[in-house]
Amino acid sequence: MGRIVTVTANPLLDHIAEIPWRHGTVSRTAAIVRAAGGKGINVARVLARHGHDCTAVCLGGGHEADELVRLVAADGIKPELVRTAARLRIGFQVAEQQAGTVACIEEGFRVTTEERERFVAAVAAALPGAALCIISGSVPDLGMDDVYRRLADVVAAAGVPCWLDSYGKPIFAALAGANPPALVKPNRQEYAGDPHPWLAARELHLTDGGGQVTVRAPEGRWRVVPPEVSEVNPIGSGDCWLAGYAHGRVSGWDIPRSLAWAAAAGAANASRVEVARIGPEDIKPLVDRVQVVQAP
Ligand SMILES: Nc1ncnc2c1ncn2[C@@H]1O[C@H](COP(=O)(O)OP(=O)(O)OP(=O)(O)O)[C@@H](O)[C@H]1O
Ligand SMILES: [Mg+2]
Repeated sequence: MGRIVTVTANPLLDHIAEIPWRHGTVSRTAAIVRAAGGKGINVARVLARHGHDCTAVCLGGGHEADELVRLVAADGIKPELVRTAARLRIGFQVAEQQAGTVACIEEGFRVTTEERERFVAAVAAALPGAALCIISGSVPDLGMDDVYRRLADVVAAAGVPCWLDSYGKPIFAALAGANPPALVKPNRQEYAGDPHPWLAARELHLTDGGGQVTVRAPEGRWRVVPPEVSEVNPIGSGDCWLAGYAHGRVSGWDIPRSLAWAAAAGAANASRVEVARIGPEDIKPLVDRVQVVQAP
């Protein structure tokens, strides 16, 4: 099992209640559970459940960040928090087992130039010995639009493969930089528009919820048909896809086998309320129902 570094610039301290959502009433519940949110943390959680040694580099401040660190460590992940003066963003979700989820999240928080530099340095310090670095999600502050390009350079300088799952200006800056990420995983909405910038990545996985996935890599092209599941909460399925694929590739599997594991991981996540809380035992039963077809 390899050491894997995930990077989450914009994590979230989530508050989750599993109760029916009713407008105009107070819903009472025994407990509102706090959970570490953020896409790189999701990826690390699923990889940790596969037995990988994961470090999650995150930004954030306040008591909310203390709690985030505690929760990340409780999931078997090594947290590396770069502190900001501003408090970490928070969110809440009301989850219903069958009906799905209602969520509200803050968009981000202020990050100073000095904090941004410490964040880049913390990623650099986490890289030695890593088999892979996965950078995921949005950035918390408009002043960070260039940070993924900077991180891509730092990861390249360390000789570690860099995968990037983001959207908008931060990912396009990285794709246009001197060291574009080796792998990108936009969903249909994030990919929309000009396909040209995405060509800079060696490998592209274009996902579409329960629909077909288009994959291109120097080794070939594939179409992946996800298994049919009854969808409960698809949030984080892209993170589970990446974690599943990373598990395969770091374990030395070929691309088609890794893609099947990735699709089964995404589907396993979509079929449950909890976000990115799946492991091999949830993924394995779905793998044989994934179709991976070589495309011309
Ligand atoms: N309803 C579903 N049924 C089966 N598989 C699904 C479903 N939703 C997602 N998946 C699997 O997970 C993969 C990733 O899902 P999706 O395209 O929704 O990612 P995403 O939009 O990046 O998600 P997020 O950013 O919230 O993690 C899909 O390609 C598919 O393999
Ligand atoms: Mg996504």
